[in-house]
Amino acid sequence: MQAVLCTSWGPPEKLQLDELEPPQQSPGNVIIDVKAVGLNFADTLLINNKYQYHPELPFSPGGEIAGIVHSTGDYVTCCEPGDRVMAYIGWGGARQQLSVAANMITRLPDNISYEMAAGLAVTYGTTLHALRDRARLKKNETIAILGASGGVGQAAIEIARIIGARIIAVASTDEKLKFCKRYGADLTVNYTTQNLKEALKSLTNGEGVDVIYDCVGGEMSEQALRAIAWQGRFLVIGFASGTIPNIPLNLPLLKSCQIIGVFWSEHVKRNLEMHRSNMSLLLNWCAEGRISPHIHKTWPLEQTATALEAIARRKVKGKAIIKV
Ligand SMILES: NC(=O)c1ccc[n+]([C@@H]2O[C@H](COP(=O)([O-])OP(=O)(O)OC[C@H]3O[C@@H](n4cnc5c(N)ncnc54)[C@H](OP(=O)(O)O)[C@@H]3O)[C@@H](O)[C@H]2O)c1
Repeated sequence: MQAVLCTSWGPPEKLQLDELEPPQQSPGNVIIDVKAVGLNFADTLLINNKYQYHPELPFSPGGEIAGIVHSTGDYVTCCEPGDRVMAYIGWGGARQQLSVAANMITRLPDNISYEMAAGLAVTYGTTLHALRDRARLKKNETIAILGASGGVGQAAIEIARIIGARIIAVASTDEKLKFCKRYGADLTVNYTTQNLKEALKSLTNGEGVDVIYDCVGGEMSEQALRAIAWQGRFLVIGFASGTIPNIPLNLPLLKSCQIIGVFWSEHVKRNLEMHRSNMSLLLNWCAEGRISPHIHKTWPLEQTATALEAIARRKVKGKAIIKV
């Protein structure tokens, strides 16, 4: 079978397409014929050895997959050969076949494509956990979403819309902001041409924003925090800008606000049952058309490096998907 492999740390162009032996069946595991792989910003860090996890070389990028069950090991009851399924796997997805622990697998409703299912787990899973469990975002509260046209950003727009919040999308171009409006943003800020703090203050009549969803980091974090409301919640999601900001601690004191970390993959490990029920909830929302992960483009397996370069160059709106 074919697999895209990271054999030495570095940029996407160092990835190689190789021929491997198919995986062996083992008790409690399921062998899946992969149909689609979701790529994320984290994959660009993972192959550079700049992520919080450090897989052993060689490994395949791609932390979420959808496909067809090829065979099941002993003790597996969740699915049967021929079932359409999805799974969050952390990394290892960009290949034709793989073995996955049965407890990470969720069956797909008939009307959800492999491409859409492969783009759901990480971005929507992270955001559901962040908005519901960590920030406790409420109806009619205001949320500002930085990097709002990216993977987790689009998920944040759609889940905040289900909660009933007033959504301010923040992005670097007017074209990206137009995309955000299409998915449900009420208001927009272009942080390349506008001062973020002033714009957020003015859109909230000086009151500030209740919840800030920050997946960008860098200098935007402090600007956003300076526009937070009294007792607001600032969600630390990620640092796509490449810079982890240093925040002056007088700011949370002055607003009596909370700075809240979100580490979704660790949350999954520690709360597997909740993860499984979250995946079912997201698939139901998707089947009902309440959320709809935008597929920016699909690439064939052999062009995984090109897809990762597009993510790193800030070119992808929504999700980058590999079709296997
Ligand atoms: N905490 C968690 O559990 C968790 C889970 C999932 C993801 N994350 C993190 O969330 C961040 C976003 O992930 P994602 O998959 O949504 O990424 P993405 O689709 O690539 O979106 C990231 C967005 O960040 C903005 N950005 C600003 N500076 C950038 C730069 N130098 N390079 C690339 N993008 C830049 C871009 O929007 P503009 O052009 O509009 O600025 C882009 O749309 C990553 O840091 C990821 O590791 C964290």
